[in-house]
Amino acid sequence: MLKTVQLTKTFSRQDNDFDAVHSVDVEIGKGEICALTGPSGCGKSTFFHMICGITKPDAGQIIFDGTDVSNYNANQWAALRANDISYVLQGDSLLTNLTVLENICLPHQLTGSGDLKESAMALLKEFGLENMANDVPVNLSGGERRRVAIARAFVHGPKMVVADEPTSDLDEENTALILEFFKRQAKSGKTIIMSTHDLSVIDDSMTHLVMRKGVINKK
Ligand SMILES: Nc1ncnc2c1ncn2[C@@H]1O[C@H](COP(=O)(O)OP(=O)(O)OP(=O)(O)O)[C@@H](O)[C@H]1O
Ligand SMILES: [Mg+2]
Repeated sequence: MLKTVQLTKTFSRQDNDFDAVHSVDVEIGKGEICALTGPSGCGKSTFFHMICGITKPDAGQIIFDGTDVSNYNANQWAALRANDISYVLQGDSLLTNLTVLENICLPHQLTGSGDLKESAMALLKEFGLENMANDVPVNLSGGERRRVAIARAFVHGPKMVVADEPTSDLDEENTALILEFFKRQAKSGKTIIMSTHDLSVIDDSMTHLVMRKGVINKK
């Protein structure tokens, strides 16, 4: 589903160039869950930004679902993110003046996915949030908001979901709930790539990649 070839991003700080992501080759199959770990600042989010088309690589290729998307322009990437690739941001990403249900449905409605209210409500129920559908995000806890963002990422049935520390603000019970949900989604063919600092969430059903100083290796 996703292949990168020698993917590289170079940043500059105080006149020094450094590769936040350095010549990364990975291959992640359909229906695979891939957990990316590594110390803070090793390049995980930068890698995610490139495979979601938010940051342009300085070198290398990104092959998504058999197509070389390395040279896609902003509109082509936006179309890909509207349909096939979802990104769950590290940190808060909900729009504060919309309700929970609107947060999940409106972005997809704007990009033509149609009325997803029923699917959204089903996901909210699955995540134990159905009674918050008409609340605004500020009335939810951080972990509840995170689950809403995960619902938004899956509701329209993308091929691949990239989630940056999706369980970092969840308690044990909700972490388990989200991981079970990810596993069911993977069984039905979704590809999921997530970063985490919590090694206890990784099990044998996942591929574990470790990143250090911009370089990714298989565990
Ligand atoms: N726009 C930028 N300009 C310069 N340096 C940057 C930029 N964005 C990120 N960096 C640097 O690149 C490195 C990798 O950052 P990145 O956010 O990818 O790390 P991370 O592995 O996601 O860390 P964390 O686990 O803390 O989220 C860091 O040293 C960061 O300071
Ligand atoms: Mg990060």
